[in-house]
Amino acid sequence: MQLKAIVTGANGMLGDSFCPLLENKGYHVVATDIITNARIIKLDIKNLDKTMNVVKREKPGIIFHLAAETDVDKCELNEKHAYETNAKGTENIALCCKELDIPMVYISTGSVFDGEKEDGYTEEDVAGPPVNIYAKSKLEGEKIVKSLLSKYYIIRAGWMIGGYNKDKKFVWKIVELLKTKKEISAVIDKFGTPTFTKDFSKGIYDIITKGEYGLYHSVNNGICTRFDIAKKIIEYLGKKNIILKPVDSRAFPMPAPRPKSEALINHKLSSMGMNNMRTWQEALKEYIEEIK
Ligand SMILES: NC(=O)c1ccc[n+]([C@@H]2O[C@H](COP(=O)([O-])OP(=O)(O)OC[C@H]3O[C@@H](n4cnc5c(N)ncnc54)[C@H](OP(=O)(O)O)[C@@H]3O)[C@@H](O)[C@H]2O)c1
Repeated sequence: MQLKAIVTGANGMLGDSFCPLLENKGYHVVATDIITNARIIKLDIKNLDKTMNVVKREKPGIIFHLAAETDVDKCELNEKHAYETNAKGTENIALCCKELDIPMVYISTGSVFDGEKEDGYTEEDVAGPPVNIYAKSKLEGEKIVKSLLSKYYIIRAGWMIGGYNKDKKFVWKIVELLKTKKEISAVIDKFGTPTFTKDFSKGIYDIITKGEYGLYHSVNNGICTRFDIAKKIIEYLGKKNIILKPVDSRAFPMPAPRPKSEALINHKLSSMGMNNMRTWQEALKEYIEEIK
């Protein structure tokens, strides 16, 4: 019998590569998001009744919960919206999984930590206290999933790269800037682990295929700064004569504070012999080749 999965947030950066991967693996994918189009069913996860109706109607064998408010500054400026989407929305999905007694996959973030550990956090490090509202609401989502379910996978990603026309993050911003600018700046005092949506999607699939519930970190290997990434983008684009200035984060004041470090280590995957992630440089190079 064909496996059926509901994917929330299917129209986002990760959904863009995860839904086709799941279909290629033989799943019947019910792709949902807050908007609708030819491929996607409208499902606002904030509404429990409507969410439960869709889930009961579709009767999936698993729910991949990708939907979130991922605009960190928007979350900071509208705490209620952040919690309603990232915490209450996650609770609604968990309640649906409980009702159907099916596993839930919740995608979380390296920003759930306090930001002080520059050499990377493992699954054994205690999360919190997060430094911004986005991360607080995502951590709350983790706590809710753990408290309501036993059949869950919480998979934390790092700085997401990929998404192609859905990309709204750092790599896309730098690529766009380099179309017109000869001089750009990038931050040297924040540390993270890039996570290519293509690699992360495969990683999610491998984890659920293995079938061991629990908490995972899944990022491309290697820790870097935004400056390191910008430098590699310039190199991979083959841009000459670009001046890249190292700056500290005070050069870019933003509504939400960013943790000094949200770098993750795939400790659990390594210990299970399942750390198949490439280095972030290899992943970034492939992404830049594909979009340039
Ligand atoms: N992006 C990152 O750097 C990053 C890093 C670590 C972890 N993550 C996590 O990875 C997951 C996937 O993120 P992503 O990078 O694919 O982000 P994304 O591109 O923003 O995708 C999230 C999708 O969820 C949708 N959504 C927002 N509110 C919703 C609601 N109430 N009901 C249904 N759908 C809703 C969004 O629609 P709108 O675009 O219209 O809001 C968007 O299409 C998220 O759980 C995120 O927290 C992301």
